[in-house]
Amino acid sequence: MLEPKDEIKQKLDVAEVLGDYIQLKPAGVGSLKALCPFHAERTPSFHVSRERQSWHCFGCDKGGDIFSFVMEIDGLTFPEALRHLALKAGVELPAYKPRPEDHTKERLIAMHDVAAKFYASTLADAPFGEAVRAYVAKRNIPAELVAKFKLGAAPDSWDALVTCLKRNGFTDAEILQGGLGLQRKSGSGIVDRFRNRMMIPLCDAAGNVVAFTARQLPVPTTPDPSLERRGDDGPKYMNSPETPIYKKGDMLYGLHLAKAGMREKKSIIVVEGNLDVIASHKAGVENIVASSGTALTTSQLRTLARYTKCIIFALDEDAAGFAAAKRVLDLALELQKDPNAPQFEIRCLIIPDGAGKDPDEIVEKDPDLWRKIAVHSEDVIEYVFTKRLRGFEDGSGAAKIEARKALVDELLPYVAKLQRPDSRHLYLLRMSDATHVDIDSLQQMLAARVAPVKGAVGKAPISPVPIVALPIVPDTKIDQAAAFLFGVALRYEGFTKEILSVIREEMLSSDLWKTLYNALGIVYHAAEQLPTPSAPQQTLFTRLRTWLDAQGKLRETSAVNALALRMDELLVGLSPTEVRQEADRNITIVSQERNRMLRSALERDIREAELSGDDEKLQQLMRAYRDIVSRK
Ligand code: UTP
Ligand code: MN
Repeated sequence: MLEPKDEIKQKLDVAEVLGDYIQLKPAGVGSLKALCPFHAERTPSFHVSRERQSWHCFGCDKGGDIFSFVMEIDGLTFPEALRHLALKAGVELPAYKPRPEDHTKERLIAMHDVAAKFYASTLADAPFGEAVRAYVAKRNIPAELVAKFKLGAAPDSWDALVTCLKRNGFTDAEILQGGLGLQRKSGSGIVDRFRNRMMIPLCDAAGNVVAFTARQLPVPTTPDPSLERRGDDGPKYMNSPETPIYKKGDMLYGLHLAKAGMREKKSIIVVEGNLDVIASHKAGVENIVASSGTALTTSQLRTLARYTKCIIFALDEDAAGFAAAKRVLDLALELQKDPNAPQFEIRCLIIPDGAGKDPDEIVEKDPDLWRKIAVHSEDVIEYVFTKRLRGFEDGSGAAKIEARKALVDELLPYVAKLQRPDSRHLYLLRMSDATHVDIDSLQQMLAARVAPVKGAVGKAPISPVPIVALPIVPDTKIDQAAAFLFGVALRYEGFTKEILSVIREEMLSSDLWKTLYNALGIVYHAAEQLPTPSAPQQTLFTRLRTWLDAQGKLRETSAVNALALRMDELLVGLSPTEVRQEADRNITIVSQERNRMLRSALERDIREAELSGDDEKLQQLMRAYRDIVSRK
């Protein structure tokens, strides 16, 4: 029995579906061209392949199958597109049954949408929106950003929102569950949670409002009868409680509005305050999110790392900022122990003295300055060193011995985590200069840290590293195949040479696998060059692990441990012929994936050539592209 999705794909041809919307012209065997419906253009860069049943536009880089086309062009969700195309294909769909938990979430999201609109309209023109209107004006938030961030006003009333929600069909139980109402202290019924505050909707990555944070209004310093009862004595910011649609530790304020900026700047700036995000947009810096005041979580880091490989923190220039930098660094290092965790770089913005307390203040004083600050960052370790070594680096060696020792203990762990030996050495030098501890002692302490357990002579060393993730399942196809082949190469030394010769470093998409393959090559060839053929007494696995341990590559060691166990499971009972077949299959996958990567790199270049109007280059790139496509 085919899935409805696959049955529809079998019955409908890509050209037939797309032909309903755009005019397709033949362009070679099995392929068609059209003007792209998703961006403005005069020469067609929209390609359709009947053979692969797919489409792709070199102009705007959109592409996919019939479902994604209909979703994009008609603005449909996947279930809607499925229904639409099922009708066209004459495929019957099983009745849609929402699961109870989906239903709850849908209802809560719908309720937050109504609430956000209610608050927005109160801010726009209700008489009791006046105090918040004045505050929004005082903070210099232009109308365009009020709309973009869906800002609103909670009226100074007991139950204005609750009444509105009930009128829209939401029950008391739902209002309580969504955190928008509170049980009345005396008597029955519920009342609004937020009153007389500026309302800032918190959205999920798709832009759905899932919670609110509410800013207290300042108590007026000059009495003004028309703005009576401003301010209250609660906290400066009051937040929604956690609900089925809102988890505090996952929230990244402004994420749904940061995606384009992240792509363009290839980085994300993380600030503390939600209003700092809004201020930054005012200055045109849109690759920014707020951690919303809570300590950053690994879940937030993981989310960001899906979008960008460079995460930049804007930290206060004080002790709290320094502590925050170290916390973030610890978190990131913790995360990097997991061989499956995404890799990313952590940097800090350099905020000059006197520029302002937070981005909001900086933008208020000088938007240009914020734009400049936003593109100048330094590596977080550099940042931590610079801060911490202040007062030590005057060369006088005046600091107390205890203080210098404490400094070594504090900073050495960070040096130990650095991947590159040259960076490790340079930071040690700097530490040595500042503390007057000689570099040899530092090096010794570092070595002790990097390999805390030494194996007994002649015996395989016991790895000090716990196995952190089992089984290891890399997330890209190429890395999965590389993982399999690596396991084979490690276990069957008859295959090692061949596998090492087909896998090239640039085929691998993650640093982990690059390092592992490099290490395997080094260890394997080192044994090969030894004079006596009987030299390698230990297995390749043991030799590799010893080598990685000695290099301080903890993450790789733990990946190898995990992989070895996984391979035992996978390969048990396979005959040599079967191992051979599996290896061949995976080698094919690696080279095909490699082609796919080359293809998308070319697609990017083609797009650029089209944009810059470089015809000659374009022709050349298109030829190269066709070459690769026909190779597959
Ligand atoms: P700040 O006190 O630095 O506020 O708190 P801010 O962002 O500069 O806000 P404005 O400019 O005074 O309006 C930083 C973050 O800590 C959280 C909020 O997320 C805030 O953005 N916070 C602060 C709370 O959740 N509750 C509070 O009472 C205060
Ligand atoms: Mn502020």
